[in-house]
Amino acid sequence: MSTKFFSALSIILAVCACCPKTGKPVYLDPSKPLEERVEDALSRMTMEEKLAMTHAQSKFSSAGVPRLGIPELWHTDGPHGIRPEVLWDEWDQAGWTNDSCTAFPALVNLAATWDRDLSLLYGNCIGEEARYREKDILLGPGINMGRTPLNGRTFEYMGEDPYLAGQLVVPYVKGVQTNGVAACVKHYAVNNQEVRRTATSSNLDDRTLYEIYLPAFKAAVVEGGAWAIMGSYNLYNNQFNCHNKRLLCDILKGEWGFDGVVISDWGGCRDDDEAVTNGLDIEMGTWTNGLRGAASDSYSNYHLANPYLERLRDGRATQEVLDDKARRILRTVFRTSMSPEQHFGSFNSPEHYAAARKIAAQGIVLLKNDGALPLNVPDGGKILVVGENAYKMMVVGGGSSNLKTKYEVIPLDALREAFDGKADVVWERGYVGDVTTDYNKVVTGQDLSESRSADQLMADAVASAADADIVLYIGGLNKSKNQDNEGTDREDIVLPYGQDRLIEALAATGKKMVVVNISGSPVAMPWADKVNAIVQGWYGGSESGHALVDVLTGAVNPSGKLPFTMPLALADGPLKTERQYPGIQEEGKDWWQEYYDEGVFIGYRWYSSKGIPVCYPFGHGLSYTTFDIADARVKRSGNGFKVMATLKNTGSVAGAEVVQLYVSDVEASVERPVKELKGFEKVYLEPGQSRKVEFTLDRQALSFFDAEKHAWVAEPGEFHALLGTSSEDIKADLTFTL
Ligand code: GLC
Repeated sequence: MSTKFFSALSIILAVCACCPKTGKPVYLDPSKPLEERVEDALSRMTMEEKLAMTHAQSKFSSAGVPRLGIPELWHTDGPHGIRPEVLWDEWDQAGWTNDSCTAFPALVNLAATWDRDLSLLYGNCIGEEARYREKDILLGPGINMGRTPLNGRTFEYMGEDPYLAGQLVVPYVKGVQTNGVAACVKHYAVNNQEVRRTATSSNLDDRTLYEIYLPAFKAAVVEGGAWAIMGSYNLYNNQFNCHNKRLLCDILKGEWGFDGVVISDWGGCRDDDEAVTNGLDIEMGTWTNGLRGAASDSYSNYHLANPYLERLRDGRATQEVLDDKARRILRTVFRTSMSPEQHFGSFNSPEHYAAARKIAAQGIVLLKNDGALPLNVPDGGKILVVGENAYKMMVVGGGSSNLKTKYEVIPLDALREAFDGKADVVWERGYVGDVTTDYNKVVTGQDLSESRSADQLMADAVASAADADIVLYIGGLNKSKNQDNEGTDREDIVLPYGQDRLIEALAATGKKMVVVNISGSPVAMPWADKVNAIVQGWYGGSESGHALVDVLTGAVNPSGKLPFTMPLALADGPLKTERQYPGIQEEGKDWWQEYYDEGVFIGYRWYSSKGIPVCYPFGHGLSYTTFDIADARVKRSGNGFKVMATLKNTGSVAGAEVVQLYVSDVEASVERPVKELKGFEKVYLEPGQSRKVEFTLDRQALSFFDAEKHAWVAEPGEFHALLGTSSEDIKADLTFTL
């Protein structure tokens, strides 16, 4: 039968399937239940139309069904803001003048807030910006676990603990999707490094997979209702993750009942047959048959294009698998661009910049303070600011999360604004980090050129300290190659560009000194004992300068907590061998092999279980006020337990504390971490105010994953509930028996 016949037939079907009430075909009637719309649309589609939707038609879009008035799906980076428009077939920016966005803080900064409400605010704001830019799928958030501090994309993720990431990804996803935009949670899964990210197999046991690397994704899907998941570049147990049967079919769509779409990372689809059968729904960014970039016919060469058509025609591929892909894609369209609720979104609004500033500030972590903060400078005094990160714009760079923002407030400008007429703010660069000012046509307009030598730069900074009332160092990393950047990992956690030497030299002047580390991942701080205060700033987005100065001046009382451990040295960590990281080559294996031999012992699970001292522990963060946790107790409740306590602000200024609950299973048949985060609550209190906090521990919270039984097991015996303000700062140790 000719396609013309089918088209005519489908139109006749469309007419007779019209809904008598509205006269519209069911799929076009937004008042109809989602699944009815999906089935009606599917019934009208030809095989070729279904197939066309399963792969890209441009760099960032996948086909709809023009004949039925079903629009294409537009995908956009990234987790921190809406990427500037690119050309149809290129990575290059299109050079639009109306696509500068609000740059929100890096997700590690959001994680450091430990605040579920702020995560919802973040998701809603970025979802509004995506909707306004008519994007249906936001390629974010990223929630891969911090297995190594070297991971180049640590700044894009939410730390080293599955519970923290799981609790924060849920509101983010809901916030995004309330705008009729699909959150595409990435990179699924066990994608924990950038070194050889497209050629390394992550090999690990099921207990580790289910206890550490899956929980945040499961929360995003089961609790957050994520509509999309991005397969990652790497392999898991030697099958590529964009068509990994176990991860996509057995676990994601099987065990978790995921009804959305699996989208490949750009270029992550690597095999014709597996792409069809192993759970991939939309293939994006592929360079098939060696074609790279935008060869005119490259889209028909996609694995889910002509090769798939051949398999459908010769019977190697089934209609029902194609229909399942098409259903999931149609469901995504009816949830987004054809949603019953019409959303307009908003872009660059004052509310979005205010949200960016608030989230950035609430995630800034005060690591150490002997009273030097909040800044207290005599009238007419001099603040010497040293460091490239006081000046360099940070919204740019880092890879696919690179953004073009309407404006970025740098720390130096925010300081000059705050101390205008009060103190002299003098800047010395101190070192040269990265002089790039053009990021794929996003041009910062800054002049980062420098003629002075490293020694001269340091001498100038030290000399300028002589008559300063305080030295405010603002350095760290900068999202350039190997310094928090997609595609490259860091090579150590030591600060680059000779910064340690510079900080030591400045500290040696004896001047009061505050160090602000701007980074998205842990750095070593060998000078921590030689300075008066240390602040972990982050890539805070468009309002980062204001957020930082809000905290430094005390306008905002810091309440951030580290979402990852700040180790003393990389060697103290759990990854000791090449086979653990970055992987090895093995006889007869096509791909690099990496073994997660450390099992569940990553991050604080490692350091606390092995008694290894760290620079600053997971969950650590100080305040300008003080808090007390009292009346802690635990009682049985149903088939679980309740843990209660009273938090009091015992200081003189309002502030927030994050009460953290860790569980310790002291009688287990397997080796368990000495503590695991199973609850947290961020509480804002006025001076003198108290608030009860209460946590519920169900059996799941007490369980470990038993790979043999393929089930979570809570063994009877003694447990401890540890209440504290960091993973090390435990205020109450409550014993109970299951
Ligand atoms: C990149 C990244 C992914 C991004 C995609 C599209 O390689 O891995 O996070 O969303 O390609 O830019």
